[in-house]
Amino acid sequence: MATIQLQKNSKSKSHLIIITDKWKTHIDYALTKEEVGYLDAYFKDSDKKSIVFNSCGRVISVMMVDLKKEIHLLDEACRKHGCATADAVNAIKGTDIAVFNSTKKASLSYAVSEGAALANYQFLHHKPSAKKTQNSLKTITIIGGNYNPKTISHLNITTEATCKARDLVNEPVNILNATDLADAFHKMGKEAGFKVEIYNKKKIVELKMGGLLSVNAGSVDEPTFTIMEYKPKKAKNKKPFVLIGKGVTYDTGGLSLKPTANSMDMMKCDMAGGAAVGAAMYAIAKAKLNVHVIGLVPATDNRPGFNAFAPGDIITMMDGSTVEMLNSDAEGRMILADALHFAKRYKPEFAIDIATLTGAAVAAIGTSGIVSMGNISKKYSDKLKASGNNVFERLAEFPFWDDYSELMKSDIADQKNIGGPYAGSITAGKFLEKFTDYPYYHLDIAGPAFITAKDSYRAKGGTGTGVRLFFDFFNSLS
Ligand code: BES
Ligand code: MN
Ligand code: ZN
Repeated sequence: MATIQLQKNSKSKSHLIIITDKWKTHIDYALTKEEVGYLDAYFKDSDKKSIVFNSCGRVISVMMVDLKKEIHLLDEACRKHGCATADAVNAIKGTDIAVFNSTKKASLSYAVSEGAALANYQFLHHKPSAKKTQNSLKTITIIGGNYNPKTISHLNITTEATCKARDLVNEPVNILNATDLADAFHKMGKEAGFKVEIYNKKKIVELKMGGLLSVNAGSVDEPTFTIMEYKPKKAKNKKPFVLIGKGVTYDTGGLSLKPTANSMDMMKCDMAGGAAVGAAMYAIAKAKLNVHVIGLVPATDNRPGFNAFAPGDIITMMDGSTVEMLNSDAEGRMILADALHFAKRYKPEFAIDIATLTGAAVAAIGTSGIVSMGNISKKYSDKLKASGNNVFERLAEFPFWDDYSELMKSDIADQKNIGGPYAGSITAGKFLEKFTDYPYYHLDIAGPAFITAKDSYRAKGGTGTGVRLFFDFFNSLS
């Protein structure tokens, strides 16, 4: 972990990030004459491009910004520049970066630092031999007086929480099953100060969570249902906000078995929604935001073991409705449905679920954003979309028309768990909506939750998508 901090003046000759819209040599960044000469020439000749270079062991980077651009695009460019600089610093075993910003936009300094801090993440739990490649970057210091210490503290908290979510997603199912996931949430609750209650299989049977139990039927590991609650004394909301995360610790597809290559081999990521909810709770509690939030994570693996639910089975869900289960690979909605029904007892202001739910979402928009839909008020959905832009986990909102519910009707049960060949992400969302009686929003993160190659500060593997989004959203409501 690299820590972001504030300082009025720079002292050391740390590695350097300069953010500017106009290269000026008169600002003293403790550059040598040669370095100034080099940069003067560079910015004279080239078309004002950003640069990262190594000057005799010191990384010097200049982020050239075009202030006419939208701020969320500039912020994102800065995050990427922060990542490029952090990578260069780590490559030469550097430990400190100082950030100077000659523009009046404080957010650019935050973004560049955030990008560097997020880029510093590594998943080396199972590779102790990789000591040599361990990142060395420790501190990122923003120099200057016009910064908000609270924002810095929030950045450190969300970076840490995002990395916690990435860790959980990157752990394979032989290390992290449903019980381990629930235990991890318990630990996070203790650390950050929120309540965690874990239901075991006995309790889940008592509650008749038929959807969760049906997916778990082919597994030897027991399911869990985790309830997290953060309730500060001065919460702004009277009715709680509820977050629900899909916690499929591994998705083989069940009897509707997935092919291995490029499909099943990534499916340890299928609890990324659950990880995002746990990590968001962690960040919200650690930052003591004034919001009452409840997090629910139903968890199990999806396997084709002996009693595995078979295509054609009719399942009675916790709410008493029935589902003709025609494809065991559409398992996420089965476990989320019970959690959405469970959430009714809180009479929430709204509930948002987050899930690696459909390949259709990936087919539609790839890994660049989150497929979203729902029926919450415009006030909330606008705020959530604004947060998506702020943290660059953008929401692509799909229609949520009732027409799509028709596609989920079954002749012999209340619903089927698959729709037709089209609009697969929306039919999944409409299926879920049936289990709610409160304002509801759905986030399908099948694309961005897990990536097979590094994408700047989004590490290869689990990305922690959703954590920064939820934090920014609830911070705006607190
Ligand atoms: N976990 C998968 C969705 C997924 C796909 C996540 C790619 C991450 C990357 C989900 O459980 C699934 O298998 N969905 C099926 C639903 C279908 C059978 C209706 C799908 O999208 O193919
Ligand atoms: Mn599946
Ligand atoms: Zn799945």
